Amino acid sequence: MDYLAKSDLIEQLATPCVIAGFHHKRKLTPAAAALDARLGGLLERLLKRDDIDGKPGDLLVVAHTGDAGIERVILIGLGKKDELNAAVYRKALSVAARALRDSHARQAVSLLHDVEPAERDAAWAIRQFIDILEAALYRFTEFKREENKARRKLESLAFLVAETAGFKAAEQAIREGQAIAQGANLARDLANLPGNVCTPTYLGEQAERIGKKHKKLKVKVLAEKDIEELGMGAFLSVSRGSQEPARFIVLEYAGGPAKAKPYVLVGKGLTFDAGGISIKPAANMDEMKYDMCGGASVIGAMAAVAELQLPIHVVGLVPASENLPSGSANKPGDIVRSMAGISIEILNTDAEGRLLLCDALCYAKRYDPAAVIDVATLTGACVVALGRHPSGLWSNHEDLAAALARAGDESCDRVWRMPLWDDYQEQLKSNFADVANIGGPDGGSITAACFLSRFAKEYPWAHIDIAGTAWRTGAEKGATGRPVPLLVQYLIDRAR
Ligand code: BES
Ligand code: MN
Ligand code: ZN
Repeated sequence: MDYLAKSDLIEQLATPCVIAGFHHKRKLTPAAAALDARLGGLLERLLKRDDIDGKPGDLLVVAHTGDAGIERVILIGLGKKDELNAAVYRKALSVAARALRDSHARQAVSLLHDVEPAERDAAWAIRQFIDILEAALYRFTEFKREENKARRKLESLAFLVAETAGFKAAEQAIREGQAIAQGANLARDLANLPGNVCTPTYLGEQAERIGKKHKKLKVKVLAEKDIEELGMGAFLSVSRGSQEPARFIVLEYAGGPAKAKPYVLVGKGLTFDAGGISIKPAANMDEMKYDMCGGASVIGAMAAVAELQLPIHVVGLVPASENLPSGSANKPGDIVRSMAGISIEILNTDAEGRLLLCDALCYAKRYDPAAVIDVATLTGACVVALGRHPSGLWSNHEDLAAALARAGDESCDRVWRMPLWDDYQEQLKSNFADVANIGGPDGGSITAACFLSRFAKEYPWAHIDIAGTAWRTGAEKGATGRPVPLLVQYLIDRAR
């Protein structure tokens, strides 16, 4: 998809499709009113005829306008003017995106950013449209013989910018929106691939492929022998149960001044999690191919950062493995030694993500990082606690937590902070090792975060549990690309 800013006058516009908005009581937005003037009042007449009053997401598709220059119009209800907030606006955008997708138009021009929801600007509106349109257009058809041939019709979307003052900002918004969408689509693709294709080795190869595209992005993939030499005994104990060799993927983007401290992103990369000897029930186990969504989002975010050439240093670390039962798998009661020297009693082999992450968090120390953020489909308990709207956020650093919450609000890829109190640490006591890998049934997402916190004491650290947000379950099953928008927004904010 091509996105561009356009400065044509509405009177002179020529395009297969225009998208515009109207409020409650059929009140057209300023740009929509200018469009309607050109169309001789057609839009108002049709709205009135069909009694469409302008509730959020109301839709009028004019498939044939009679105007030689403007073939189609898609009109979207935006609700009451003083009630237009980010959520309402996004709802309207997703209706617009689906209507545009189904319109058969190859090109379109959007006027929707002529209204700004409370506390947001036109640049935000443009970025959101790209985000939502890319999600609506996304298809994972690699393994479907028929659909693979079906061509995607829409080729370009232009944002009409009337005043020259806003043109640069619109172009920057398009650049950012497009880089984020590409990063999210990469994360979706990697995540939707089945476990028999997307193995740790494959994930490493894909990271290397991304590295080759960008001069400032260096990628190295450590093999099991290297991982062993580093002393990552917790990580390797998980991988030992599987035939697929583990990989530790390291992506380094050097875009900042030589001595600047890097931001480190760590992503859980379980290409399949059967639970190991503490095996999971069969229902929905296929969804555990998504247990590498943290890793995929880190790779996607690194690609976006490199694409945007942000003037900062960013490191991505993805420990990748499978978690399967076998004669060489971890057993309940096994004790392993992490890279940090802390011994861990494995009371449940299904709590494997933290065993990979703790060694990656220890590895992160070598960068003397400005901050470390890990992203993981870590616990089913997080979905119980928060549902599927926000990701869970834990942090040992107030400013970092606040910056991530802000980036989440800005990108509409939100997080909700959870406690990291010492009170919970008690639950991780082991009779035989320094720490147990589970903390019992109470507050499971919190004790998981507490476990990680023991390996992240030496830098500002945040943990994001994406178990409820990284993919959709049920009829619409598929990866969401979250939290790529959040991570890239956070890094864009650091670069400013
Ligand atoms: N990858 C899972 C977490 C998960 C489960 C995410 C279902 C999304 C949906 C993780 O490795 C896991 O199995 N966690 C256990 C932890 C428990 C054994 C303490 C869980 O959540 O049940
Ligand atoms: Mn597990
Ligand atoms: Zn897992």
